[in-house]
Amino acid sequence: MLKNIRFQTRISDFIKSGKLLAFVYNIRHAYPDPNDPHTFLETDYDDPETIDCFTKHLKNCGFPVLSLEATADVEEKLGEKKEDIGLVFNYSEAIIEGDRKKQITSVCEKLGISFTGPSDKTQVLARNKAKAKSEMKKHGISVLPDQVFSDSSEPLASNMRFPLIVKPIGQGSSAGITNKSVVENEKELRKQLIEVIGRFNDSAIVEPFITGREFSIALIGNPPQILPIIEPNLKSLPKGYVAIDSLEVKWLYEEEAQDHLMCPAILDPDLKAGIEKTARQVWDSLELKDLCRIDTRCDEDGNLYVLEVNSPPGLIPPEISTTSYLPLAARKAGIEYDNLLKTIVASALLRYS
Ligand SMILES: Nc1ncnc2c1ncn2[C@@H]1O[C@H](COP(=O)(O)OP(=O)(O)O)[C@@H](O)[C@H]1O
Ligand SMILES: [Mg+2]
Repeated sequence: MLKNIRFQTRISDFIKSGKLLAFVYNIRHAYPDPNDPHTFLETDYDDPETIDCFTKHLKNCGFPVLSLEATADVEEKLGEKKEDIGLVFNYSEAIIEGDRKKQITSVCEKLGISFTGPSDKTQVLARNKAKAKSEMKKHGISVLPDQVFSDSSEPLASNMRFPLIVKPIGQGSSAGITNKSVVENEKELRKQLIEVIGRFNDSAIVEPFITGREFSIALIGNPPQILPIIEPNLKSLPKGYVAIDSLEVKWLYEEEAQDHLMCPAILDPDLKAGIEKTARQVWDSLELKDLCRIDTRCDEDGNLYVLEVNSPPGLIPPEISTTSYLPLAARKAGIEYDNLLKTIVASALLRYS
């Protein structure tokens, strides 16, 4: 049972209504492997076991679940069942149609189906690191300067000084972010730009590389509750790892290393207040809804910058991973996985009622 009576009542009403909860996701076909760049394209997707387990939890909450992979025919499938669907639980990264990508949010808005998470406008912004940053900057939020490269031979802007970091513009889960992403000179920059642009068939975003503490902030509900802040311990990575939350760290090291994720992060009150204020500003400025996770990092002088917004954030069940950031932060706040799922669903349903 949820402690929040309003949430619990809304969930019970939904279940009584007999409507379906359509769970939409992307499936990956190979586990991310830093030595096999072909696997990078699906890093942001989920293993079939994760999706099965997630579905099991949703059913355990009492929801009649309709599971749908976000393949090209998902619009048709949602359209057919439109009248029976009460809510879409959006856990998908994108619908891939040949070379084009679109968000499930656009389909739901078109069909008039309610869904978890923010509007399509916000979702599209959040999926593009440069556009999201530019919107946040307009609202006075501190973000690092950046340069977007659609072609690897474009000249480097004069305000971009090495060391720099090269990232895919529209990926998540550290896809394309490896030990080689931090570049010290022109030669390394060009090599990495060719790799990232070619691999993901999309632009690369280049930013100054900053080396202070990193914080990830998970938020749920409307208005949002800020969950205990997570700090990946980048100071004590084994030799050979660059101090970033890279693919190597996230997919090879993190699960084994007991002390890599610190939650709640140990923060002095001013820093904690500053991080939370920033997180709320990001939430408001991008009009986020129901759930999200915000990644931030400090520079050497302790100034905090927002790196990106994760929407939808990873929600891997605890049986599969104990280091999935948002469920981990929720657990630290006393919210177990099923109650986390119910909180997200109830938050969305309450927005529409
Ligand atoms: N400008 C930067 N300076 C220092 N580290 C960075 C910077 N941008 C990203 N990182 C590191 O790379 C990781 C992944 O970058 P992020 O922008 O969060 O992409 P993803 O969507 O893959 O999580 C971050 O968690 C951080 O450790
Ligand atoms: Mg991130």
